[in-house]
Amino acid sequence: MPKDMLSLKDFTREDLEDILQRAAYFKKNDGKIFSSLQGKNIAISFWEPSTRTRLSFELAVQKLGGRVINLNPRISSEEKGENMEDTVSTLASLGAHALIFRHSIPGYIQKISRNIGMPLISGGEGCYQHPTQALLDIFTLREKGVKLEQTMVIMVGDILHSRVARSHFFALPLYGAGLTLVAPPVLLPPELVPPGSGYSYHLEEVLPQGDVIYLLRVQKERQSKGLLSSLDEYAAVYGLNEKRLALLKKDAFLMHPGPVNVGIEISFKALKMLESFPTRKVLFQEQVQNGVYVRMAVLDTFVAGRVI
Ligand code: CP
Repeated sequence: MPKDMLSLKDFTREDLEDILQRAAYFKKNDGKIFSSLQGKNIAISFWEPSTRTRLSFELAVQKLGGRVINLNPRISSEEKGENMEDTVSTLASLGAHALIFRHSIPGYIQKISRNIGMPLISGGEGCYQHPTQALLDIFTLREKGVKLEQTMVIMVGDILHSRVARSHFFALPLYGAGLTLVAPPVLLPPELVPPGSGYSYHLEEVLPQGDVIYLLRVQKERQSKGLLSSLDEYAAVYGLNEKRLALLKKDAFLMHPGPVNVGIEISFKALKMLESFPTRKVLFQEQVQNGVYVRMAVLDTFVAGRVI
């Protein structure tokens, strides 16, 4: 098992199995008091916005009996000009045993933390990777009885900017799942498609093949080059609407890492139809809930028992 959780490229299936089995244990025993992080201080600092990842990591630390050192960059001494290297070494001086972070520049936190021995756990780095998101997605599908080696995942959306997609490029093949990427050409250059995966620019052609339809958020904050002519146009061609719902397999699962841009990735009407039709399998909330157990398992693996 690597020292840090930064990229799923560094992990074997056995490593991921170990983490997912711990997650299943924590979920099964939810409500019990765990103490594997007792006496440990876990620094959490997100230099990009987050709700699900940050809060579920905080909850995970608390459920394992640890303490959170919460660094909010907007009200930290960085605002007074302290550089990032000093910020991270201050966290170490305060007794942090691990750093969970999100940052827009891939590799930056790893580079400046080179001389600090504590494990680094990514909560998402720019357009690079979001390892715990891919793990919780796999956990959620397997919990539903999905046999990944017989599963075709259709991933639709802003592939170009997606760290979630890039983590799945490593995770899904480890489990033998098929992957087809769908997006407008500007958000899906063919060189981005990993070996063994397919791609299409025509959503309606591939939707009927999907056992899992994984919608990705259109990252409006990363569209500075004006790649998309308009979000309305994107929604018209690549959004999941009522008409396209009819093309899905009856038992297809629908996933999204959140936050969902309702009206862009999925129309309001389609979402309402899915929610009121129980045989459809919308997993958005279960993904969020399972994030806590998977992050408990990650902390238990990477931090509990480690001596700095
Ligand atoms: N899925 C995800 O990373 O959501 P947040 O940005 O809310 O953490």
